[in-house]
Amino acid sequence: MTSPLERAEALEREQIVTLENKVITRSIIYTSGDCDPREGPPWRKALMANPELREMQFLAGDDPRLPAVPEKPTLIDYFTYRFGPAEHLLQSARLAKLNGCSEKVILACLLHDISVVGFLLPDHGYWGAQLVEPYVDKEVAWAIKYHQALRFYPDESVGYEYPDQYLRWFGDDYVPDPYIERDYQHARNHRWYMSARQITINDLYAFDPDVTVSLDEFVDIIGRHFRQPEEGLGNDDSPSAHMWRTIVRPTKFL
Ligand SMILES: [Fe+2]
Ligand SMILES: [Fe+2]
Repeated sequence: MTSPLERAEALEREQIVTLENKVITRSIIYTSGDCDPREGPPWRKALMANPELREMQFLAGDDPRLPAVPEKPTLIDYFTYRFGPAEHLLQSARLAKLNGCSEKVILACLLHDISVVGFLLPDHGYWGAQLVEPYVDKEVAWAIKYHQALRFYPDESVGYEYPDQYLRWFGDDYVPDPYIERDYQHARNHRWYMSARQITINDLYAFDPDVTVSLDEFVDIIGRHFRQPEEGLGNDDSPSAHMWRTIVRPTKFL
């Protein structure tokens, strides 16, 4: 007799997870690279090979492996229940505060890598901007979008140098993609350039393990500058609400 957990683990070895008698699916983008996307996601292959599994339903609601999210989630709830470690964001926002930045820029620093901690790594500035755009000042979303490109380009006039960390991560012969160069050129001539540049100036890499910054420090700024929808972030009908819902239920079938 196997326990539900043992059964889940055994199936996981077969690249498929079932819980509460439901098949849990993973979007193709989760496995693309580890697997060839053209062959379909691994769970689909396992399903095709096992008629018994094909009789089961798919998980279309909350994933029982994840902590429950409040019915009307706030931005802070996402930090609490869905985002990965956010020290980098908190320490960057703290630095922006110490440097006397405006509240808008502090918020932009607090959210600049929101896609890294909660959604997708590739083009994180673009995805992050889109996630928050309906809820923040346009300039905040713009700065989040363009910080990604500006990171690669020094600006001596404000003491911003090419990050040492990037030399290590990307190598010293790395050339940013053409769209990054294009968007950098666009940003540097834009009236909001300095807001995006401020993110890069306060974008810390050397996380200080001895400094603990709490989200509590920014609750007021969030309250003043992030338009929390009454029905809950993701339950509203903004242009990015579906992205928030995907963060809450990343394994929802369709
Ligand atoms: Fe970033
Ligand atoms: Fe960052």
